[in-house]
Amino acid sequence: MASNTNTKQVVITSPSEKFNSIILPEFPLLLAPMEDVSDPPFRAVCKDNGADLMYTEFISSEGLIRDAIKSRRKLDIFDYERPIGIQIFGGDEESLALAAKIVDVTQPDLLDINFGCPVKKVALKGAGAGVLKDVDLMVRLTAAVVKSTSLPVTVKTRLGWDENSLNIEEVAERLQDVGIKALTIHGRTRCQMYKGEADWTLIGKVKNNPRIKIPIFGNGDIDSPQKALEYKNRYGVDGVMIGRAAIGYPWIFREIKHYYKTGELLPPPTVEERVNVVRKHLRKSLEWKGPIVGINEMRRHYANYLKGLPNIKEYRNKLVTLTNPNEIEAVLDEIIVRYSGYEFTRTPIELVDYHEKCKLQ
Ligand SMILES: Cc1cc2nc3c(=O)[nH]c(=O)nc-3n(C[C@H](O)[C@H](O)[C@H](O)COP(=O)(O)O)c2cc1C
Repeated sequence: MASNTNTKQVVITSPSEKFNSIILPEFPLLLAPMEDVSDPPFRAVCKDNGADLMYTEFISSEGLIRDAIKSRRKLDIFDYERPIGIQIFGGDEESLALAAKIVDVTQPDLLDINFGCPVKKVALKGAGAGVLKDVDLMVRLTAAVVKSTSLPVTVKTRLGWDENSLNIEEVAERLQDVGIKALTIHGRTRCQMYKGEADWTLIGKVKNNPRIKIPIFGNGDIDSPQKALEYKNRYGVDGVMIGRAAIGYPWIFREIKHYYKTGELLPPPTVEERVNVVRKHLRKSLEWKGPIVGINEMRRHYANYLKGLPNIKEYRNKLVTLTNPNEIEAVLDEIIVRYSGYEFTRTPIELVDYHEKCKLQ
């Protein structure tokens, strides 16, 4: 059992002299790659609140090669985001290797391969978690990427295809052998999608396998500082990756850090802090997506950020209908005045089953 007195930094080693190794603090917190969520505006507010390593949304290797605009856009990364990883997926060696070369040009700090995406359009085409059914293929795909880039290559995957084929222990050893520099494991199988509770037992087994030298990051259902620390201590992982809990609540990162350092819980963010995050997210959205898409896509975030404020509906309705950024900012000013000094009670973060909701299906 690991303890929180361990003061070692976590290093993702660079395979070449061209790039520096990534030095992360002890117990690093990673922001999960999330399609349609982990874009630059969202990443900016997570970074401000303490995410130590972030990832882009996954990018199709085929899309990159075709130069599809959507895939290209996802390559946008900014210096203030470092260290940052670009995540790609695909089921073909040549395409993945070529996509890795395209990613190289944008010079992220690492390149991550997604072998975890469970949705049909990816997994049933032999990419994402689909590769978990064929470990030889997974190894060949990974080796092809490692060979074609001088960036550190990392992998994110699940425990196995289904409960009868939990092969993550074999997967971890074999991927380490072909040169990956860190592994993130989501404690579910492909067939579980997002159902049930994540099982971290096998993640702990991988971490505690003496053959495994690379950092192992655990992922799945972290929604509070207490759970993050409990899981770190119980399973010995080098760090935890957080996805859904950060949606609408980027303060989760600073709360975990504070709890790790002091054993105490921070008070929930004030209304000013919440509104400031909304402003930053909105401004970054406008900058990066332009006024129309920026305003539209921001609409799904207000409710999450302002959750817990009594009678917020009236303001929220304005926020999701206004189209002029100055008018939106004026409503945000009103919210600060109206709720100044409001004391939030701490409520558990709700982890939504995105399998049912998100358009990835
Ligand atoms: C909306 C959404 C989109 C996701 N997109 C990706 C993705 O692009 N790449 C990936 O590796 N995982 C993706 N995931 C999975 C998350 O990275 C993470 O493994 C999963 O949500 C479990 O972590 P959590 O319980 O902290 O949310 C996505 C998850 C959600 C909720």
